[in-house]
Amino acid sequence: MSHNLRVRARQVLDDLGQIVGGQVRAQALRHTSWGADHARTDWAGQARSAVAGIHPPSMELELREVVELSPTTRSLRFARRDGRLPPFRAGQHVSLAVEIDGIRSSRPYSISSVPGEPLLELTLRDDPSGFVAPWLFRVQPGWRTRSSGPTGTFHHEPLRDSDALVFVAGGTGITPFMAMLRELEILGWPRKATLIFGNRSPDDVPFAAELRRMARGNPAFRVVFVYSDAPAAKRVRKGFIDGAVIRGVVPALDSATFFLCGPEPMLALVRGELAALGVPRRRVRSEDFGPPARITEQPGWPADLSPESLFELCVVGGERYPARAGEPLLVAMERAGLAPASTCRTGACGDCRVKLVSGRVFVPEGTAVRQSDREHGYVHACMAWPLEDCTIDAVR
Ligand code: FES
Repeated sequence: MSHNLRVRARQVLDDLGQIVGGQVRAQALRHTSWGADHARTDWAGQARSAVAGIHPPSMELELREVVELSPTTRSLRFARRDGRLPPFRAGQHVSLAVEIDGIRSSRPYSISSVPGEPLLELTLRDDPSGFVAPWLFRVQPGWRTRSSGPTGTFHHEPLRDSDALVFVAGGTGITPFMAMLRELEILGWPRKATLIFGNRSPDDVPFAAELRRMARGNPAFRVVFVYSDAPAAKRVRKGFIDGAVIRGVVPALDSATFFLCGPEPMLALVRGELAALGVPRRRVRSEDFGPPARITEQPGWPADLSPESLFELCVVGGERYPARAGEPLLVAMERAGLAPASTCRTGACGDCRVKLVSGRVFVPEGTAVRQSDREHGYVHACMAWPLEDCTIDAVR
């Protein structure tokens, strides 16, 4: 192991030590009998600041480096300005704040660097039709912003997941897997990993050289590239990540744990193919890539409703704002300058939860909303599309 790898491995272990130490201290606090000395010591305050150091709710960031990866992808590397980067699990994400033309918004980005590195790396693809991506693609070193602390459950869990890992990525869905693979490399490959990586063409593949280097002569890691638009050529897999591809490259179908990340059509295809291959759902974990891109194609969308239909969104005790049928309530609130809380933008974290006082919304099948929220009229604004004029209570 090189000196650099040893240093980074030591940092990872130090951070793990901090987490375990924090848990032990918290345990001790619960069992302490409070004497005079304890009364003078702000144990609760110390515990709170220890927890905030490990799980900061937000971080001030400064962009230090921009790395070109391919014609349409680049990595942004940030330093934290208000403290050390906290420990995190490879595969987690942060929500990055942006302000564009006076509209404050945020987007979740998986972290592609490993825990313990001095800079936090996020990787994105330019998308000229998007609102945030084209703007973010052009930021320069020195740009300052805020993000959430690292969060999310898309990571390997030794007590639950197998040691044979299969990562299925589409485009920049590779980012959480880069963190996981880099960490496996630092730790000396304690688990075997197979990566099936789908892209449009061989000319636009982020991290291609690094992945090939990792796999070269390494029996613990295999990478297979699949291209949807490649010209026919020897040794180029053309097509989509279907059952035939998966069966051909995954030796341990009956025991592997599958991690999927990429655009929604790819996730839907791969989930269906895995089910057809007999892989149980408990061995398939996936990270969505934002809300459905084509909401009108979701099952249950009213056939006669145009996504351009314009409704009114009213906040109790406040004003009325325009809300397009084809955009989630969260976007309508951001366009109105309300700056609602949000982290995942896929219905998973609950940060954007609001009470729907009146009006109907469309919530795609499979969106996670707690039963009690349903019963009391709460929705996740990032996954609720207005079907008529709507009123919500105060924005958090
Ligand atoms: S932002 Fe996470 S549920 Fe809406």
